[in-house]
Amino acid sequence: MRKIVLVYSGGLDTSVCIPLMREEYGYDHVITVTVNVGQPEADIEQAAERARLLGAEHYTVDARELFVRYFCWPAVRANGDYQGYPISTSIARPLIALKAVEKARELGATAFGHGCTGKGNDQFRIEYILRTLMPEAEIVAPMREGRRLPDGRREPWTRSEEIDYANAHGLSIPQSHSRIWSIDENLWGRSIEGGRLEEPDYAPPEEIFQWTRGFDACPDVPTTIIISFEAGVPVAVNGTAMDPLDLVVELNKIAGENGVGRIDIMEDRMLGLKVRENYECPAAVTLVAAHRALEALIGTQAELKFKSSVDREWGELAYRGLWFDPLKEDLEAFIGKMQERCTGAVHLRLYRGSVAVVGRTSPFSLYNEDLASFDSKTFNQSESLGNVKTHGMQSRMYFEIRREELKRLGRSEGELLQLPSTGDAPHA
Ligand code: ARG
Repeated sequence: MRKIVLVYSGGLDTSVCIPLMREEYGYDHVITVTVNVGQPEADIEQAAERARLLGAEHYTVDARELFVRYFCWPAVRANGDYQGYPISTSIARPLIALKAVEKARELGATAFGHGCTGKGNDQFRIEYILRTLMPEAEIVAPMREGRRLPDGRREPWTRSEEIDYANAHGLSIPQSHSRIWSIDENLWGRSIEGGRLEEPDYAPPEEIFQWTRGFDACPDVPTTIIISFEAGVPVAVNGTAMDPLDLVVELNKIAGENGVGRIDIMEDRMLGLKVRENYECPAAVTLVAAHRALEALIGTQAELKFKSSVDREWGELAYRGLWFDPLKEDLEAFIGKMQERCTGAVHLRLYRGSVAVVGRTSPFSLYNEDLASFDSKTFNQSESLGNVKTHGMQSRMYFEIRREELKRLGRSEGELLQLPSTGDAPHA
């Protein structure tokens, strides 16, 4: 018996992979693993049902708690972002692959299948984990390889061919069943692409959104919430301590009702392809905004500057699925040390799609009201003079040299520092 573990979502692509494993790749025992990271319950049920119809041995693994604790929380601590959105699909892939490896070990399978295409990011993220943990395993990716033609050549599957193939293998899907949007969903975010969204100029229609209300449908009055953090991790909402999973579910609800977390961007995939992506990620946007506000209160100026580049690197590595990369762990060592002080509470006002920070407190606050206040007498202002005199010293030395040069050329000193005249401005 040749056993293979198929990383299975229950969608058309991965469903087609089940009979393909038998017919084209010689695996007579297909084990499907669907990992619950917070996708709709209906998708999870559909996966189990389709796997049964197609004759696979199916497992559903509930990894929601692990996902929040070990993937979303590190993302909060690193303000996990890629090109302006909170990364979500990318942080779920390593966990999904880890669970697939766990099942393979348990059941004695030494091969993996997945439904990723050759254009996307997920092939990298998933195979990185599979190849790290089971370097000897065979990996088959039928969607990337394409459909085999009678003459042996391969070409990409079309949706209609996939439906025909599924129908011929016991999974009936009507040809008319057109998938409009391609959606990936987990607790940290929902991503919608495809269909007319592939036109960068096409405004996202209201129907693509499930978690967030549109501007017009939001409550008329703002909702104020307080989020408490301990060591950079969210622990309570409005003073009530909550389990990680409940906290994310609750915030998706509260922030979503206020329309927070819709993002429409052009995204550069790993292979360089630009794609138009829409996201809704109410909890992630809210928590990262609150976390940043708390960091701004407790971090030194130098720490904050350094951390923004650490965060950027972290986001890049996480986006690439390099979840266990040495550099990522190094960055997390820095993040972890700094986050020891990231404890406190942040007040937010959610209103018609916006999240505004309106207050923050921390026992580790570096803010001193007496020093900063306009009325302060503690700060001896005249002592600033020494600092002011040396400010920009090198920059001023540069202009000394320029001044000498202008003199030598017999030109006016007025040319030293000149604003462009309005006529020169590009759009004047
Ligand atoms: N572009 C995002 C990423 O690579 C999300 C892709 C999600 N897929 C989808 N079919 N919506 O992480």
